[in-house]
Amino acid sequence: MTEERRIIDKIDTEMARLFEQRMTAVKAIAMAKKASGAPVEDLKREKEMIAARSESIANPALRRYYGDFLRGVISVSKDYQTDLIFGEKMPCSDIIIDNGCISRAGELLGLDGGKVLVVTDTGVPSRYANTVAASIESKGAAVNICTVPQGEANKSLQSYAKILEALVEGGFTRTDSVVAVGGGVVGDMAGFAAATFMRGIRFFNIPTTLLSQVDSSIGGKTAIDFAGVKNIVGSFHFPSKVLIDPQTLSTLPLRQLHNGLAEAVKMGATGDAELFSIIEKSSDLHHDLPQIIRHCLNYKKSVVDADPREGGLRRVLNFGHTVGHAIEACSGGQYLHGEAVSLGMLYFAEGEARKRIANVLENYNLPVSHNIPAQTLLDFISHDKKASGDVIMVVKVSEIGSFAFETIAIKELPL
Ligand SMILES: NC(=O)c1ccc[n+]([C@@H]2O[C@H](COP(=O)([O-])OP(=O)(O)OC[C@H]3O[C@@H](n4cnc5c(N)ncnc54)[C@H](O)[C@@H]3O)[C@@H](O)[C@H]2O)c1
Repeated sequence: MTEERRIIDKIDTEMARLFEQRMTAVKAIAMAKKASGAPVEDLKREKEMIAARSESIANPALRRYYGDFLRGVISVSKDYQTDLIFGEKMPCSDIIIDNGCISRAGELLGLDGGKVLVVTDTGVPSRYANTVAASIESKGAAVNICTVPQGEANKSLQSYAKILEALVEGGFTRTDSVVAVGGGVVGDMAGFAAATFMRGIRFFNIPTTLLSQVDSSIGGKTAIDFAGVKNIVGSFHFPSKVLIDPQTLSTLPLRQLHNGLAEAVKMGATGDAELFSIIEKSSDLHHDLPQIIRHCLNYKKSVVDADPREGGLRRVLNFGHTVGHAIEACSGGQYLHGEAVSLGMLYFAEGEARKRIANVLENYNLPVSHNIPAQTLLDFISHDKKASGDVIMVVKVSEIGSFAFETIAIKELPL
């Protein structure tokens, strides 16, 4: 055994030398890609490379393992290229916003081969997933559709397992892809399945609720709920592309539309005064939605690019969420997420800004008052924040379009 270990050590040392050489070439290619704007990923070449190199393995039993080994090497090279091209930032998604774009999904997502799992839920009109699937199929990829039950209660281990089963039973590999067609529930869950299946496969998001179009579809957060706790199991996994078709919002119930608008109000209030006044002055929301979505995504993208893993600035997106979460959790399902955030924002807005936020919320039938006792909310927040002690960081807005972070004692929250 000592002799074999000596051989392995020698091979590993030689491989380390070759690795450095390989990464030097990878770096040169990254610079060329950066100059030409070419994408980091080149799926066709990866497939050809793995097939061709595997041929040179004489022992057929070892070919599969060599394929896996090469995929790992390619993945490391892509990470290195991504870091070189985008600096320390994680690349936020490529986003396309266009009315009717779901019917061109195959072309726009660049899915011209391999297997694709389209994940949707029972509440999303099935024609959206069917349109996406037909468009991708027309480009030569093999598509399966996996439909999970709708609703937050189904953002669960069971639905996650259903998606994983579809991937395993469909014989998916690391070069295949998952496409979410639905709201934040589908996007978060399908993204988490893509993040974890074979340690991560490509993920594309086609959000169909306003909340998911303005917020959850970018930013790379994926998760499921577990043991009664929202989003407690998850990971960061950025979608390769996001397709936003504002026309899909025509079938969304008004309450859900306004629920999503609350997140847009939040972004306008904290960082984009122009967005806030578009919402404030809108006399035809459907007409203004593409513009609103564009503003929100620009804003969220700039915040996420600056702080991909929520180390600091990204916490601005939590405006209204500290108390909002507590209201959502303590209301026994009375409020949707955006509705609870609407209530939460009012605790931390001051003066003229507070007046304008309250007015805009009322105009869109979003709640501005509730009857949950302050002590109930305080108990929830103290319990929720036990790990970080007795203080909490909150986002305050005293002028529309700007914000300030403030650390306050939980017992001094203005509830
Ligand atoms: N990842 C993130 O950064 C992030 C950010 C915010 C929220 N979220 C998550 O998003 C989820 C909420 O998302 P949501 O508000 O989109 O809820 P949702 O996904 O449950 O969708 C709401 C309802 O609308 C239906 N629906 C979806 N599209 C439709 C359409 N075009 N027409 C008609 N009905 C349609 C759905 O079936 C569902 O019943 C939560 O789980 C939350 O944790 C994630």
